[in-house]
Amino acid sequence: MLRDGPMIDAHRVTLAAEDDFDGWRKAARGLAEAGVPAAAVTWQVAGRAADLFAGPDTAQPPPEGPSFAVPRAFVDLAKAAICHRDPERFALLYALLLKLRSNRQVMEDRADSLVDRVEKMAKEVRRDAHKMHAFVRFREVGDDDGARFVAWFEPDNHIVRREAGFFVRRFANMRWTIMTPELTISWDGKTLTEGPGATRQDAPDGDPVEETWKTYYASIFNPARVKVKAMTKEMPKKYWKNMPETALIGGLLAGAQAREAAMIKASASMPSGSNSEAVWQEVRDQAAHCTRCDLYKCATQTVFGEGPLSARILFVGEQPGDQEDIAGRPFVGPAGELFDAALEAAGIERSATYVTNAVKHFKFVLRGKRRIHQKPDTGEIEACRWWIEQERALIRPPLTVALGATAARSLFGKIMAVGKNRGIPHQLGDGGEAWITVHPSYLLRLPDADARRTERARFVEDLKRINARSEALQG
Ligand code: URA
Repeated sequence: MLRDGPMIDAHRVTLAAEDDFDGWRKAARGLAEAGVPAAAVTWQVAGRAADLFAGPDTAQPPPEGPSFAVPRAFVDLAKAAICHRDPERFALLYALLLKLRSNRQVMEDRADSLVDRVEKMAKEVRRDAHKMHAFVRFREVGDDDGARFVAWFEPDNHIVRREAGFFVRRFANMRWTIMTPELTISWDGKTLTEGPGATRQDAPDGDPVEETWKTYYASIFNPARVKVKAMTKEMPKKYWKNMPETALIGGLLAGAQAREAAMIKASASMPSGSNSEAVWQEVRDQAAHCTRCDLYKCATQTVFGEGPLSARILFVGEQPGDQEDIAGRPFVGPAGELFDAALEAAGIERSATYVTNAVKHFKFVLRGKRRIHQKPDTGEIEACRWWIEQERALIRPPLTVALGATAARSLFGKIMAVGKNRGIPHQLGDGGEAWITVHPSYLLRLPDADARRTERARFVEDLKRINARSEALQG
């Protein structure tokens, strides 16, 4: 920066912390209003080595002129990207802010290399956050005030402060501490406090909670279903050393299917009394920014599941259709109408069930003005399993129903022919029970009126059987 330019034009901004979004925003606004080009600003973080070539600290950013509004999408993107480990992030975000002033549409320009770079950073930050949610493992330690749960975690980016709220909501009733190399955060049931970073050796190792945990993990391990590649993808080796259950992996590496295991772990790590509604809301909010596959690029929004978390039946469709994509709710279009009618005929109240989809973004091709549904591919189903696993982990429904082949593929992690497997109970990796039936859209597509009538009646029969089974499971 600035090395070839006159020093007099230089501005140095010192932010309070690596993730100081408010400080960055204030300074960036002032600089942008004063027309300071990106190349004339050096960004640094207090306590870090200063750039010797930089100009004097812009202690007071240039006076704020009439402030210009930036799109919400930029603010969300910047809040995530600012937590990235790349020291260039502040400058890149400032350059993007300046670009936005002259081109309001730049955020939609997928070919813009700056947008692309910042989006990649934000994506990495969100992925890091997912890992933290899934792989933080608490060990129980006693202190003078009773039990405290302590975890060690090494994030790749500056995400700890950003993700603290998630842990507060999920473990609201526990006293806990999460140690990381950069920062330690602690919750005493009322207040969140921060302390300096720690080392692996500062964290406790091994305790009764771990033993219970290992026993549990071993008992749910299904050696018939090994997917080491998927496992290492979702659970990078880096985290293995901090996770009690992974000590068993060598012996069990006949190993369970990774994502099911990850889901089970996520649900089992939730202490009773945790605030599931708040966690669900948190997960839903995260899903709203999902970039795990490319479908988010064209869809209007993520269509997350809906229904009570106490639901005894969880229905899984394929993906939102055209109307669902616009409404932001599952099964509200033509397939939803048929589904509602069939539920009613089977005596199931939809509002008492949880309804979601295997894939949470609408996949389509444009034909003229029409958006034509496209079947999601295996990669998209796999990428989206993360969300349905979170939903199932929170709801823990006694019965999960796959509506069609895509839903079955997602739930079982393999192809399950609908015709052969409908009408009978199946066991999922976490011990939950699943049923498979046809997708309502299949019934809509049948060209022959007689076949349509017969198949709809079969669908209602399936639903009646599922309802009866759900009541039987309820006891
Ligand atoms: N089809 C689905 O699978 N899900 C919906 O939400 C709508 C149509």
